[in-house]
Amino acid sequence: MTPPIRIGFALTGSFCTFAAVLPIVETLVSRGCEVTPILSTNAATLDTRFGSADMWRSRLHHATGREAIDSIPAAEPIGPKKMFDILVVAPCTGNTLAKLAHGVTDTPVTMAVKSHLRGEKPVVLAVSTNDALSGSAANLGALLNRKHYYFVPLRQDAPFAKPRSLVADMDRIPQTIGAALENRQLQPIFLAPGEH
Ligand SMILES: Cc1cc2nc3c(=O)[nH]c(=O)nc-3n(C[C@H](O)[C@H](O)[C@H](O)COP(=O)(O)O)c2cc1C
Repeated sequence: MTPPIRIGFALTGSFCTFAAVLPIVETLVSRGCEVTPILSTNAATLDTRFGSADMWRSRLHHATGREAIDSIPAAEPIGPKKMFDILVVAPCTGNTLAKLAHGVTDTPVTMAVKSHLRGEKPVVLAVSTNDALSGSAANLGALLNRKHYYFVPLRQDAPFAKPRSLVADMDRIPQTIGAALENRQLQPIFLAPGEH
């Protein structure tokens, strides 16, 4: 019997996408993956119009059976202890994208990525940000060109109302993970608006 895939599943503060991500976490667990939630400090603490921090934390706990990693000290052993086969950041904010692109490590999620990359293992990013095609574009470009990073396919979610916004298709997270574990980028990386 093959051992379960161990997934670190990190959420950052794109709160509007949490509701789309939670069913994906449930799908991964139902397929036999061991999923450990990881929360950025903002994801772990901010109550927003999309729900309270405690509500999301407890839904993730319920879905995975595991407590979230929510501090830099708790994320630090991820690499040394080889805790995960793959690390997913979904959703990944423009803020976290910028930090990853520039080697800034000051949240549990950026610490988790840095620690996981120590072992040269794959990282999957599901970007969701209104400035993907403006302020965050250089950071997206930098990470598209960096080893060990794989992207959940993205689309312009509202090309006319939010012309610079890109959002990953969260339903494609499981497929992206499967490809990344084979060192492959799922294609196409960019989806046409409205394409499913
Ligand atoms: C209600 C709400 C929704 C947000 N949605 C997004 C989003 O979709 N994408 C994004 O990049 N930032 C979004 N932000 C801003 C981030 O939460 C903010 O940049 C924060 O510093 C991110 O920190 P983190 O990346 O460490 O989680 C949102 C903020 C709030 C309050």
